Amino acid sequence: MKPSQTPKNPCFSSGPCAKRPGWSLDALKDAAVGRSHRAKIGKNKLADVIQRSKKVLGIPDAYKLGIVPASDTGAVEMALWSLLGGRGVDILAWEAFSSGWATDCKSQLRLKDLRVFNADYGRLPELKQVDWTRDVVFAWNGTTSGVRVPNGDWIAADRDGLAICDATSAVFAMEIPWDRLDVVTWSWQKVLGGEGAHGMIALSPRAIERLENSNPDRPLPKIFQMTKGGKLIEGIFEGETINTPSMLCVEDALDSLKWAESIGGLPALIARSEANLQCIEEWVAQSSWAAFLAEEKSNRSSTSICLKIKDPAFTTLSADDQSAHAKSIVSTLENERAAYDVGAYRDAPVGLRIWGGATVETSDIQALLPWLDWAYALAQESFARAL
Ligand SMILES: Cc1ncc(COP(=O)(O)O)c(C=O)c1O
Repeated sequence: MKPSQTPKNPCFSSGPCAKRPGWSLDALKDAAVGRSHRAKIGKNKLADVIQRSKKVLGIPDAYKLGIVPASDTGAVEMALWSLLGGRGVDILAWEAFSSGWATDCKSQLRLKDLRVFNADYGRLPELKQVDWTRDVVFAWNGTTSGVRVPNGDWIAADRDGLAICDATSAVFAMEIPWDRLDVVTWSWQKVLGGEGAHGMIALSPRAIERLENSNPDRPLPKIFQMTKGGKLIEGIFEGETINTPSMLCVEDALDSLKWAESIGGLPALIARSEANLQCIEEWVAQSSWAAFLAEEKSNRSSTSICLKIKDPAFTTLSADDQSAHAKSIVSTLENERAAYDVGAYRDAPVGLRIWGGATVETSDIQALLPWLDWAYALAQESFARAL
């Protein structure tokens, strides 16, 4: 039976993610548009984003947090290009983004002493393989496979190398052990549903020391430079951005942080995301056709929730047919306004990906689930007819 009610908000994209409940353009009415970001009003707003983010996330005082260009990609790349090369590097790669960082380290940075530990979609590489005398690069949550690291226990507290973590689909939805991480990056467009464009980078005292004392033998574009004359450019971490940010995006980031504070901060954000995962887990447990791409429950993401289709009638279709039917499910859901943007990532195995981050209401996930069954049944009819 076709469900009668669609989710109130059908936005389940894994980035840009759903706006916070109750958001409207009105949230931007105090934006410092038309003003310089270096004027007091603009700089104060940028500094406010930094301070509120640090507070909500519980980032230690000794860490520096900055707003940087080019979203999470910009933040990760500036860390890789500024920090790596002085010692060996280990990279954990288990889905598209972490594999991308490995490719950049190999083909662009051309690091000589590089080890890449790979795993297929749905799995984590063996975390114990990494050597903490080396620098280690990894994503906390693999957005394209729905697999996250279970915790930070595998990261040596007394490491010599730096732990460089792309946490863009994890921060504000998962517990992050700051003392185990030296560089943490994210963007505004993810868990708090902000606008695309800007990234954030958090640096531990050891990462700052490395920045100030190493001089990588490579050219660094201005937008990657965090030091001048061997000293950290402190202004970047106080709201003096390297180049011009969008004050609309800044206002929106502030709005999302104020919302996060209003609902109870990080514990409430994490609880919302975990409730979304739990709701899908209960549905998957009784589904005849859907299963998690993540093989282990302890590694299952609560934000980018990736599903594969286990129905033998589907898995025995050709790869092209599987892909065509999965696409038809996604467009049926979109046409019905039941769910937008729930297709698997383009390089990931065929399936569905439902964002369960903190801005998504569990009631909307609940309303979505019968639509998934209905859309799958429609696809099933069409592939049964084709046989
Ligand atoms: C793990 C991960 N890293 C990097 C990115 C790229 O982020 P951005 O588009 O914000 O630069 C994404 C985007 O989804 C991601 O999920």
